[in-house]
Amino acid sequence: MKIFIDTADLDEIKELASWGIIDGVTTNPTLVAKTGRSFNEIIEEIFKIVDGPISLEVVSEKADDMVKEAKQLVSKVSEKYRKNVAIKIPMTSEGLKAVKQLSKMGIKTNVTLVFSANQALLAAKAGATYVSPFIGRLDDIGQEGMQIVEEIMEIFCNYDIETEVIVASIRHPIHVIQAARIGADIATVPPSVLRKMVKHSLTDVGIKRFLEDWEKVKK
Ligand code: E4P
Repeated sequence: MKIFIDTADLDEIKELASWGIIDGVTTNPTLVAKTGRSFNEIIEEIFKIVDGPISLEVVSEKADDMVKEAKQLVSKVSEKYRKNVAIKIPMTSEGLKAVKQLSKMGIKTNVTLVFSANQALLAAKAGATYVSPFIGRLDDIGQEGMQIVEEIMEIFCNYDIETEVIVASIRHPIHVIQAARIGADIATVPPSVLRKMVKHSLTDVGIKRFLEDWEKVKK
């Protein structure tokens, strides 16, 4: 399973990319706002750090405006990085129209705010490169989020649909294990969850004991 990092924080992206486990980045308006920096300021930097798909989200609501905004976003990125741009489009009927047009232009899309298998199927039919089911937000309202990932994977598998599934809105390490067991293509994981995934108390205890014992070895 590919792992994307779900943040726009450059320091976090740099640090976690240095672990050698990051295949791409997803951002959204909330994550960009959290950085306190302007989008233009951080956009190119992200592409320099990670050589993989980087999702940038539009904020327009009408299809033609989304397409226009998508083209502007692509043009903000240096030519050598443009192959990695994926435009995040919200899952609405206007969004589907935009995805259709963008896919004809060869611009990659990531249909975001997907909360059902039907939405994912429609996004794939419109030509989405990626669909992002939001698991944590479904869990938040008392619905088993991971179930829609199972349904989407089954449907995409039945019809050899090439659209890749990005499990999004991940809240804890168990979500990542579940996504991987289902066989999702990608999980986009917040830095805090990646830090939890790397840790185990027995690893820490083991290192401490090895270091203490090493002190006892005659040198
Ligand atoms: C995915 O692309 C989104 O940026 C993200 O996973 C949203 O997660 P949230 O529900 O924690 O905001």
